[in-house]
Amino acid sequence: MQEHINYIVQRIESLNPLHGKKIKKNMTFFDEAYEITFSGFLKKYITYLETENKTLDYAIDCYLSMIADMNVEAVDFFRTGKYSSSTFQEVNDRVYAKPGIMEYYMHGLIMSQFLWKHHYQLFSSYIEQLPNYASKIGSYLEIGAGHGLYLSRSLEILNNETTFVVVDISPTSIDLAKRFTDSDRVNFHLMDVFDFSIETKFDFITMGEVLEHVEEPLKLLTKLNDLLNEDGTVFITTPTNAPTIDHLYLFNNVTEIQALIRSAGFEIESEMSFLSEDVSPEKAEKFKVSTLYGAFLKKTKK
Ligand SMILES: C[S@@+](CC[C@H](N)C(=O)[O-])C[C@H]1O[C@@H](n2cnc3c(N)ncnc32)[C@H](O)[C@@H]1O
Repeated sequence: MQEHINYIVQRIESLNPLHGKKIKKNMTFFDEAYEITFSGFLKKYITYLETENKTLDYAIDCYLSMIADMNVEAVDFFRTGKYSSSTFQEVNDRVYAKPGIMEYYMHGLIMSQFLWKHHYQLFSSYIEQLPNYASKIGSYLEIGAGHGLYLSRSLEILNNETTFVVVDISPTSIDLAKRFTDSDRVNFHLMDVFDFSIETKFDFITMGEVLEHVEEPLKLLTKLNDLLNEDGTVFITTPTNAPTIDHLYLFNNVTEIQALIRSAGFEIESEMSFLSEDVSPEKAEKFKVSTLYGAFLKKTKK
């Protein structure tokens, strides 16, 4: 594992020295728990790349293409104060319906799970806390599973009788998630979450980094509330100030996210926030540094 991580960091450094410097600094924060968390996933990922006749170099190129896109979006964001796309149709045409783009974007996101401290911190909090809910989870729904990292760990943590359903709008994401999981146990739906309807309700819903991808996040949270059992739990994550090619809805700060959650009929059971850069909270606010927010939610008692 360490050998692969070292290789990835060195290659990024040689192809993009500025970004490599940042990643190298990140690595100094990672500990033994990091190694345990990611060794299984990285092994699976490398096996997947091999079955596709792809190499780690391919994945690194994908990651750097994603970073290049993000840099362009960041310049635009600092100039306009807005994300570059504002409608679902634009993002669908530009990203979800373009397998070539979606492919490098999803591989880039996988790499970010190993390389970005805030992605690691959020994922660690999730896998630390999910076992506390496990005995009450008979049915699990994941919306926008993307590469499938959260799904694959949830399958390992939750018991064998739990039923799993995934909804994602992108064929590339569904395909990737299938390869990372014991897919016989998962019922995959390739569709827009707003078109998803089902008779049953779920005990647990995970929705990582999807809220900022829709035009009306309140409508999406309200939908989650409808899909949830009365005593069920939702885990959501979403960033503030994070310009990328497929983000539509701008949260300027965590307070805006919390207010939206409450408007959709949820109370926050526990929450976490991680800055994407190593700066003070004051500097983060001044320079609109992205914060990754995550929370476990319950329905507000009537
Ligand atoms: C940024 S990725 C998040 C991946 C993963 N959940 C994570 O937290 O890293 C967003 C995912 O949501 C999916 N998505 C975006 N809008 C959607 C929609 N309206 N309905 C269903 N899936 C959607 C995308 O296809 C993509 O796989």
